[in-house]
Amino acid sequence: MSDCLRLALVGCGSIAEYHLAGANELAGKVAVTALVDPELERVQSFAERTGGRPYQSLAEAIAAGGFDAVDIMVPHHLHEPLALEAFAAGKHVLLEKPISTSLASCNRILAAAGAAGVVFSVAENGEFWPELVRAKELIDEGVIGEVVTARANFVYGYDPQWFRAENPWRFDSQKTGGGIVVDGSSHWIRPLRNWMGEVEAVTAVIGYPFARMQGESQCQAIFRFESGKTAVFEALNIDGVLGPQDWWRIIGREGEIAIGDGFEGQLRLFDAQSPNGRSVMEASGYNGAFAREIEDFADAVLEGKPLQAGPEQTLAEFKIAQAIYESARTGGWVRPADIA
Ligand SMILES: NC(=O)c1ccc[n+]([C@@H]2O[C@H](COP(=O)([O-])OP(=O)(O)OC[C@H]3O[C@@H](n4cnc5c(N)ncnc54)[C@H](O)[C@@H]3O)[C@@H](O)[C@H]2O)c1
Repeated sequence: MSDCLRLALVGCGSIAEYHLAGANELAGKVAVTALVDPELERVQSFAERTGGRPYQSLAEAIAAGGFDAVDIMVPHHLHEPLALEAFAAGKHVLLEKPISTSLASCNRILAAAGAAGVVFSVAENGEFWPELVRAKELIDEGVIGEVVTARANFVYGYDPQWFRAENPWRFDSQKTGGGIVVDGSSHWIRPLRNWMGEVEAVTAVIGYPFARMQGESQCQAIFRFESGKTAVFEALNIDGVLGPQDWWRIIGREGEIAIGDGFEGQLRLFDAQSPNGRSVMEASGYNGAFAREIEDFADAVLEGKPLQAGPEQTLAEFKIAQAIYESARTGGWVRPADIA
């Protein structure tokens, strides 16, 4: 393998714009050489911008060759067939979250990755989002003292960029595997786990306030960690008007970290020195994660470096999502470890 990863972008939709921007930041280490999407206009637009070759199916792209790895960014119900096709062709795979729509399907993908002996990574930008990484550093440095609790607030208004088609797949619970809990919530749950440790049990309610979305568009949950500490997780997607609200707050015995909402959310630190808060980094936000997550994958392929967080971490978030569903159904505490 050369020192530049030849990458095929499979699915040239909304998130592919962010992955492409990330790949562009890694010029020299990553080259986008192939594009796959059945939508001709989109695949051609990506091909023009990258110089890569356009294909309308992964099978055509594999037959033509010219890439070592695929970055799969398609609706959730297509994760399994496309990932298995890529593994069968011996390609390294970076797959958008969640791994798939059911635990059985996630397990089939993980087994196929193992059998293929290639690098398999699941893109979780919550692992690399600069403000979330900085918050972990501040906690580890003891800046806010012992963490008492945290709040992750995945609340955002309807944003058409994530619902592009006339009948968006995100409104169809068969295609997503549920609703917002199994979809975007992992980006809020990963940092909670990085800050507070493993989730031992959850109790939750879910709701359906966004009429067009078949799956749940609301969730209120309490997470209990192995340490015995608890945190609040809330998710809401609604086609109304919402005011600003922090996406995360972490409360320590000696201070608090707040990360504002939106893609450029600011990190503010409140401590004895600055009880009214101060900024400790330049805002980077959501966009700042994508080059880092692709670089982590590229380093694993090119240099054999271990992934910062393997696919089993995304599987853990999938099990937390299933535990939330089970708790909402039964009304009790559910342990993600018991999800089978
Ligand atoms: N990390 C994040 O913050 C984040 C944000 C949004 C979406 N996502 C994830 O990215 C994935 C895609 O979501 P999106 O919002 O970009 O969806 P999207 O609908 O905007 O894009 C999906 C694209 O896949 C294409 N496609 C469909 N079938 C295909 C096939 N067989 N081969 C190749 N391409 C095919 C579609 O034509 C479309 O262009 C999902 O897994 C989603 O959960 C992650």
